[in-house]
Amino acid sequence: MQPVSNSVDLTSKIPNNVGLSDDPKLRKALERWLPNYLDWWRDMGPSDFADKPVYLRTAISVDNAGWAHYDHVKMPDYRWGIFLNPLKEDEATIKCGDDAGKAAWAEVPGEHRNALRRIIVTQADTEPASVEQQRLLGHTAPSLYDMRNLFQVNVEEGRHLWAMVYLLHKYFGRDGRDEAEELLNRRSGDEDKPRILGAFNQPCDHWLSFFAFTMFTDRDGKYQLAALAESGFDPLARTTQFMLTEEAHHLFVGQTGLQRIIQRSAQLEKMDPNGDVRNQGGIDFDLIQRTINYWFTYSLDLFGGEISSNAADFFASGLKGRFREAKKYEDHKAQSGDYRMHLVEGGKLVEKDIPLRNAMNEVLRDEYVADCERALRKWNKVLEEEGVETRLTLPSRRFHRHQGIHAGHFFNPDGELISEDEYRANEQKWLLTPADNDYLLSIMKPVHEPGKFANWIAPPSRGIEGKPLEFEYVRL
Ligand SMILES: [Fe+2]
Ligand SMILES: [Fe+2]
Repeated sequence: MQPVSNSVDLTSKIPNNVGLSDDPKLRKALERWLPNYLDWWRDMGPSDFADKPVYLRTAISVDNAGWAHYDHVKMPDYRWGIFLNPLKEDEATIKCGDDAGKAAWAEVPGEHRNALRRIIVTQADTEPASVEQQRLLGHTAPSLYDMRNLFQVNVEEGRHLWAMVYLLHKYFGRDGRDEAEELLNRRSGDEDKPRILGAFNQPCDHWLSFFAFTMFTDRDGKYQLAALAESGFDPLARTTQFMLTEEAHHLFVGQTGLQRIIQRSAQLEKMDPNGDVRNQGGIDFDLIQRTINYWFTYSLDLFGGEISSNAADFFASGLKGRFREAKKYEDHKAQSGDYRMHLVEGGKLVEKDIPLRNAMNEVLRDEYVADCERALRKWNKVLEEEGVETRLTLPSRRFHRHQGIHAGHFFNPDGELISEDEYRANEQKWLLTPADNDYLLSIMKPVHEPGKFANWIAPPSRGIEGKPLEFEYVRL
């Protein structure tokens, strides 16, 4: 196994705990990629604000007790580093599939090379994509606190790209270096060279979408990373374990951001004589529900097909496990057993048993949906406490799908099979529309005074790292 410890080299050009100083060839290759990365950041990272100090956390250790350092930093000066969780001898085994229990791989096995490269590139591609999707949002931030959180998410997605590019450079030779270049060449939403996955080409042009994106799409990331954290390819497992530490904050930003909007909308509804949230300059619940429907379903697509021979192969060969495979499951082979799912056959929704290994994408999606439901319960609790009637829901996982067995069929948000005509007639009621986006952009005026928040969102319950809400999270 490759030497990785808690000891981090913070003085070299690329901070790391992977012993870069002992591997001059790799260090040089990454140092050649660095200026290209910075060019990409300048062109496609947050628009403006490059010269403004932002109160950011930077990973400086992989120690649970204190892995991050907080300070005002200008974003282009952020120290993007390469960190892997330390090697734990007893954990270095293949977690699932035919070879479960055998020693994990310290190098890429020849027969899994293409699959692993594809998995890593697909994960890697999402990281710069989300930075591109969010690049204009700094201009409409509802507070300095929120602006800081946006930039924190952005620099850490940049670091996640570094984490994946390290694996490509170190373990995949020439192909890996080419892939690392391509990661800087694709662009979110670009017709000719789009990002790989659908959700990462959708525009995210206001803060309601930003919070829904970090709530739902980053949460898909959590589950993908968790599946890779169980990988038999040990460097990938430990890389993604550390990424999950950072990812938790992104999910916090999304979940609490939406919660603060929901709370504020409830207050505005009570304030208005006609209960009209928009009349008070806020975001009405129907619009919030359409946003949930939109981003939740695009995020469901990211898990891949419900019935998937790829998923079966990845599991069987130990490349990708289930959520908390090692801790949660007794049988790591899953050779027998079925998964019952709904699918359309002969124009009707029927139930069918699918061999468990082929249903691994759906097994992971189940964990994700349950996690999203927990957030919905919290939001509805807020609505209850505020004394308003509305409750928010997650749409059926069959609704508005572009990938998998439900794509090409039409369902309403309750998951009932309907005609295309019925779907088209109601689409505007169910999903975020251009008119919604126009309205949201019209109310999203930046608020730059420390401690002040835009009218359409409630303040958070506390600041960052013990700092008060009035703290100057971004020095403008
Ligand atoms: Fe990420
Ligand atoms: Fe993230």
